[in-house]
Amino acid sequence: MSNAAIIGTGFHVPARVVTNEDLTQWMDTSDEWITERSGIKERRWHELDDEGVVTQTGAEMGAAAARMAIEEAGIDKDEVDLILYATLSPDVFFPGNGVFIEDLLDLNTAGAMDIRNQCTGFVYALAAADGFIRSGTARTILVIGQEIQSTGLNLTTEGRDLAVLFGDGAGAAIIQATAEDRGVIASVLHSQGRFARELLGEAPMSTHKGRITAQIMAQGRHFPSMNGQMVFKHATRRFCESIKEVLEKGGADIADVDLVIPHQANQRITDAVGARMGLGPERVFSNIAKYGNTTAASIPIAMAEAQREGRLQRGDLLVTVAFGSGFTWGANLIRW
Ligand code: ACO
Repeated sequence: MSNAAIIGTGFHVPARVVTNEDLTQWMDTSDEWITERSGIKERRWHELDDEGVVTQTGAEMGAAAARMAIEEAGIDKDEVDLILYATLSPDVFFPGNGVFIEDLLDLNTAGAMDIRNQCTGFVYALAAADGFIRSGTARTILVIGQEIQSTGLNLTTEGRDLAVLFGDGAGAAIIQATAEDRGVIASVLHSQGRFARELLGEAPMSTHKGRITAQIMAQGRHFPSMNGQMVFKHATRRFCESIKEVLEKGGADIADVDLVIPHQANQRITDAVGARMGLGPERVFSNIAKYGNTTAASIPIAMAEAQREGRLQRGDLLVTVAFGSGFTWGANLIRW
């Protein structure tokens, strides 16, 4: 049975930098509040044209990240036989963004599947990629995590608790079957739907005639909503549990781990997890200060940056771990 090795990574973020100070023109907030509560200093948001339409689609951003990963992997793009695309913000209601990637990269009818697991999307996608490779269903998988959050935020004081946290971006990885002793060792996946409404993006919704109505818009139900303190509490606990569980499943010890890449939810969550797990900042990757929370894109962007910064070397033991809307959570243990 083959192992599923990560052989290339890439990322792409919009050029437009939005600082905490910039946000104060739309809402009552401050650099001090945002920095202290989240660790975020700036984020990347898409440029909009005069009609409020993004100048680069999410799929185009995903394709840019994918091209970088394909080049780094040194493969022919036609080797890709499956696309796994994690996003909560697809460009259109359907189909998913995976098929737009097939077209943009001209991937010769490779299979395409979208994964709807919000902040946990990339962890679920890596676990799925590992399963598809071990079963022989696919040999070379392009995994993408991508979000456009900026077009869906309530940029007023009413929406400030969420609006200050999120950013746009895309990350990608090429996962390929190998006989070598590396790749995904173990994954753990969980959900608890009774908390689904604690971190929610409701509209457009198929339960309502027309899927989005003037009343839904007037109530602001097309914007995300979050019970921040509940998310904080559950996230911290589940991050730690997932790390322990995936290490146990993979037969490894926390002392063996070279790097943990947590979903970049909030620096305070990352710090709390590091402290509870006895991991110093040199073993916990963080780039939230410059990108904010990019949801499904945060782990693959961090992975690509960690590798370029020399913090991920061949043979290193890596844990990726995430928690998000659903609630969903999970982790992957990977030999780089
Ligand atoms: N700027 C200024 N003031 C704000 C802002 C803002 N952006 N947002 C909220 N406030 C105000 C509130 O209105 C409140 O004012 P009040 O005391 O007059 O009522 C005050 O700040 C405190 O609000 P709380 O909600 O109690 O603030 P808290 O300390 O809980 O921090 C936060 C809020 C940062 C959202 C926190 O709950 C948190 O970190 N939660 C984790 C959620 C998270 O990180 N989600 C990421 C997305 S989900 C994921 O990726 C897993």
